[in-house]
Amino acid sequence: MAADQVFHSRSLGIPSEGVKDQYADGKAAKTWNKFIGDSNQRTQNYKDFLIGLLKNNGCKTVLDAACGTGIDSMMLVNEGFKVVSVDASDKMLKHALKARWEKRKNPKYDDWVIEEANWETLPQDIETFLPDTQFDAVICLGNSFAHLLDEYGDQRMQKLCLSNFAKCLKPGGLLFIDHRNYDAMINTGATPGHSIYYNCKYPVDIKTSVLVVRGRAELVALDYCIDTSNDGSKQEKSEFRLCYYPHKLSTFTSMLDEAFDNRARHHIYGDFQPLDKVPVPAFYIHVMQKTKN
Ligand SMILES: C[S@@+](CC[C@H](N)C(=O)[O-])C[C@H]1O[C@@H](n2cnc3c(N)ncnc32)[C@H](O)[C@@H]1O
Repeated sequence: MAADQVFHSRSLGIPSEGVKDQYADGKAAKTWNKFIGDSNQRTQNYKDFLIGLLKNNGCKTVLDAACGTGIDSMMLVNEGFKVVSVDASDKMLKHALKARWEKRKNPKYDDWVIEEANWETLPQDIETFLPDTQFDAVICLGNSFAHLLDEYGDQRMQKLCLSNFAKCLKPGGLLFIDHRNYDAMINTGATPGHSIYYNCKYPVDIKTSVLVVRGRAELVALDYCIDTSNDGSKQEKSEFRLCYYPHKLSTFTSMLDEAFDNRARHHIYGDFQPLDKVPVPAFYIHVMQKTKN
């Protein structure tokens, strides 16, 4: 493989200055809804896990910090949660805004707030449209957090963003954040094609490239090829690349604990199950409970 295929950290068409939005060329955003389906295609395991923990902990208000096209947010709105959805990509938000418009006759959707915000400035961004607001829960799911690449080589932006998530929570509030099992992906050089989050009805091929610098895996590029030609519409293949920071479970776990001053309760699940039940999970899901005082 040519080196430049690996070294392009963003899709073509994205300016080198400004918001680091991997969706800015619109390619992935356009296919995303087809790829992950609608809220009804979320897997039952995922729904039971997320909604179960939110309800058992009395959560009513949820900040979806990486709402993308709004699929998870809609699942939560349908379940009666008060949802605020933010994302840094206006190309992705466009689809969420359109979905809200299409649901405008459903009163459940009257209070659904959708705004642009960046994890790097999250509390300040939220303050501009919802002053003095903290949430019962913050979710950053679907392998979203790994979109933040390590520009400085010391994960300082990751640490800042994680502490911003903690700041957005009420005392006792829950943060749900996940990452793929990069430990396994680095070892095998492969990415599981099926998702634990959605039932995708199209064939998906994911080509995995791992960039190793001085013995350390620093970037994983996933080239998605989704063949949507079997849905009766005109033949279509969608190809796009997304790049991720390959979080190792142990390092990410410590970084997350530090973001909560080492005082939060921290549970880790593999594919929504206790870790000892899944030998090699595709995803790790961390649930942090902020201390009550
Ligand atoms: C894989 S998509 C997931 C969206 C949604 N949670 C889902 O499962 O469909 C990741 C999202 O994270 C957003 N994102 C990446 N970096 C961000 C940042 N610094 N601040 C806010 N959102 C960001 C992207 O714009 C993108 O919409």
